[in-house]
Amino acid sequence: MNKSILDGRPQLTAEVNKVAEVAGYLWQKGWAERNGGNITINITEWVDDEIRRMPAISPVKPIGATLPHLKGCYFFCKGTNRRMRDLARWPMQNGSVIRILDDCASYVIIADEPVAPTSELPSHLSVHNYLIKNGSPYKASLHTHPIELIAMSHNPAFLKKDVLTNLLWSMIPETKAFCPRGLGIIPYALPSSVELANATLKELDDYDVVMWEKHGVFAIGPDIMEAFDMVDTLSKSAQIYINSRCMGFEPTGMSQEQMHEMSIAFHLPK
Ligand code: 13P
Ligand code: ZN
Repeated sequence: MNKSILDGRPQLTAEVNKVAEVAGYLWQKGWAERNGGNITINITEWVDDEIRRMPAISPVKPIGATLPHLKGCYFFCKGTNRRMRDLARWPMQNGSVIRILDDCASYVIIADEPVAPTSELPSHLSVHNYLIKNGSPYKASLHTHPIELIAMSHNPAFLKKDVLTNLLWSMIPETKAFCPRGLGIIPYALPSSVELANATLKELDDYDVVMWEKHGVFAIGPDIMEAFDMVDTLSKSAQIYINSRCMGFEPTGMSQEQMHEMSIAFHLPK
């Protein structure tokens, strides 16, 4: 077996294993057709001097944005065009570790193999830059294609501010408890564009999960498991709504009073 950056690094291994576990869930959920979706995690805290000395195994590549807070940071990223179901089984063959260079505008791959990172890297890295700038403990970002939530984004009525958030919160009490900042909405933008990255950043001031209209969701969390849990919770609510409509009725939903009661009882921010 070839040497891996994970060898002798149990904490780094644990974080990459969480990514692999979540990648498997995304596939099982039906949210990860072909190469759909991507994951990046900030692994800088697990990086030692030996890793810092590791040579580049790729040419220097531009990020597409200058991100001053990422100087010297390291990320594990899903590879572009790689399948989540493959990332689940072989994370180091379908993802790679990148180092951000001192110009804060480019990166190199350092391990294990020269797997080019996800095409959504501008959004992911812009978000990590924003998180560090704000002193956030969040280390993970997830983009995925959840069927029911995307279906709902095809209805303009749901795209007005906080309409979908309130509807999803009202389907089951847990949604407000575990996704208390709700779901931000980002009008359609070209996948992998810097425009999409900038719009995502703006919404993350107010939300932990944002909807990329007619495309998917983008979520952040302390680790990848928690980012996944939030999307899973919102998706459950979307399924309850759609199931009710399929049975031929508009679900009543919890009342504003009942949701307010939840906010008080669980000290929720909204
Ligand atoms: P990548 O294969 O480049 O990660 O792209 C998948 C995707 O979902 C783009 O939005
Ligand atoms: Zn996508």
